[in-house]
Amino acid sequence: MDAPSIRSICCIGAGYVGGPTMAVVADRCPHIQVTVVDLNAERIGAWNSADLSMLPIYEPGLDEVVGRARGRNLHFTTSVEGAIAAADMVFISVNTPTKTHGVGAGQASDLKWIEASARVLAKAATGHTIVVEKSTLPVRTAQAVKSILEAGPAGKSFSVLSNPEFLAEGTAIRDLENPDRVLIGGESREAIEALAGIYGQWVAPEKILRTNLWSSELSKLTANAFLAQRISSINSIAALCEATGADVREVANAIGADSRIGPKFLKAGPGFGGSCFQKDILNLVYLCRYYGLEDVASYWEQVVTLNSWQQHRISRLVVNRLFGTISGKRIAVLGFAFKADTNDTRESPAIQVCKDLLEEGAMLAIVDPKVREGQIAIDLGKPAGQGEANWQLLGSVEAAAEGADALVLLTEWEQFGQINWPAVVSVMRKPAWLFDSRAKADGAAARAAGLNVWTLGEG
Ligand code: NAD
Ligand code: UGA
Repeated sequence: MDAPSIRSICCIGAGYVGGPTMAVVADRCPHIQVTVVDLNAERIGAWNSADLSMLPIYEPGLDEVVGRARGRNLHFTTSVEGAIAAADMVFISVNTPTKTHGVGAGQASDLKWIEASARVLAKAATGHTIVVEKSTLPVRTAQAVKSILEAGPAGKSFSVLSNPEFLAEGTAIRDLENPDRVLIGGESREAIEALAGIYGQWVAPEKILRTNLWSSELSKLTANAFLAQRISSINSIAALCEATGADVREVANAIGADSRIGPKFLKAGPGFGGSCFQKDILNLVYLCRYYGLEDVASYWEQVVTLNSWQQHRISRLVVNRLFGTISGKRIAVLGFAFKADTNDTRESPAIQVCKDLLEEGAMLAIVDPKVREGQIAIDLGKPAGQGEANWQLLGSVEAAAEGADALVLLTEWEQFGQINWPAVVSVMRKPAWLFDSRAKADGAAARAAGLNVWTLGEG
């Protein structure tokens, strides 16, 4: 049997994955109608905004792709059931956060949004529908999805595929347009080839990998665990570098030159953030325990433990260097997003570092080119305010530095590499410090302008 030709796609979930992924599919496949649905009307409204700078997600290049396809064959709507009924293929790209209560709380994935998606699919789909798991899921979730679909009304049929997404935020469009690989797991050859045919419009055939369902689901958790493990590994060595006089960037360079190790994901920093690394490793840990593999679970758990240690280590260090107290002192925080080139703050190391500094009574002056004040208020659990143990969002490094004892650089935004140090230092209270957790600032220029400089991983 030939692979069915797909003319209409629906994607449930217009978030960081659903939005950009479907925008690229629509851009590359003008013959397919792509409809992205979400229950969040405000988010859908933002995707439909006439002003492309108001899209709900900031990603370099996203506005151009959306601008080309939207209204032609890319649509955003809250009419979930109508879009499902019209689709030959439905992607599920909803959130799968860590459970906060009940069995597995703190580790297992909360699959309630996946289940809700499967139930609405069972109800609204017509004819034969290929269902694609795009969300990151615990291995064997496809079994649960199939059970729900099969228990729905008669007269319809489904094939379930796993097609995890490997894009990183900040480079989402580049990653989607030129992926290292596309992974498709499934049981139905026709369904696999139908999805491969879509990616085949722009991805080289040898990059499209086909596996069974469970290998595909587990490969996604494993990829994130390996990436996060490299970061915890290099961060652990950074601390040892500081203690011994070695320099973690020189060490990373030296080990990364070994082709078996490779140079990527060896940047020491304030600890990994983002919505996925921690949740996916904790999910892996939960699965290992569920299958009785206690030693394997503890091995992966340590990657997360070291990451939180790294975040707390930075705030403790700031307090120590500022004579053991930061109560009532102004501290400028450079960067709040979990990495550069995104407005996403989920699990950003800046959240923990700022909470620690506020707990010590500091006055924080935060600067971030993309994160909005309302988001910081949610993350820090309090609105902006003046005085001790409060925070404000400022528009420039110079404004944040006014009267500050220290600058703490937490996100590697390009602009923090181009600070006018004499101007900034002149408005700070002395002795003044720069704590650079990303080695992004020009440390030599900052020192020359009169700052004490601490750079993470530099002995
Ligand atoms: P997100 O929270 O940004 O978006 C999910 C969207 O799904 C939300 O807008 C929510 O309103 C919507 N939604 C939830 N239930 C719904 C329902 N029943 N009907 C309609 N809409 C519904 O999440 P995200 O960052 O896009 O992540 C989605 C999945 O992709 C997660 O499993 C995540 O682990 C995975 N992933 C994320 C990234 C990333 O960079 N963010 C990368 C790869 C994989
Ligand atoms: C990560 C993976 O890279 C993607 O492949 C995956 O699809 C995604 O998670 C997901 O499943 O959500 P993302 O979290 O968007 O992507 O961004 P990364 O570039 O991986 O950065 C994650 C965190 O690690 C950031 O806080 C970043 O600053 C930090 N990091 C990254 C380092 O500290 N050092 C490095 O060398 C690399």
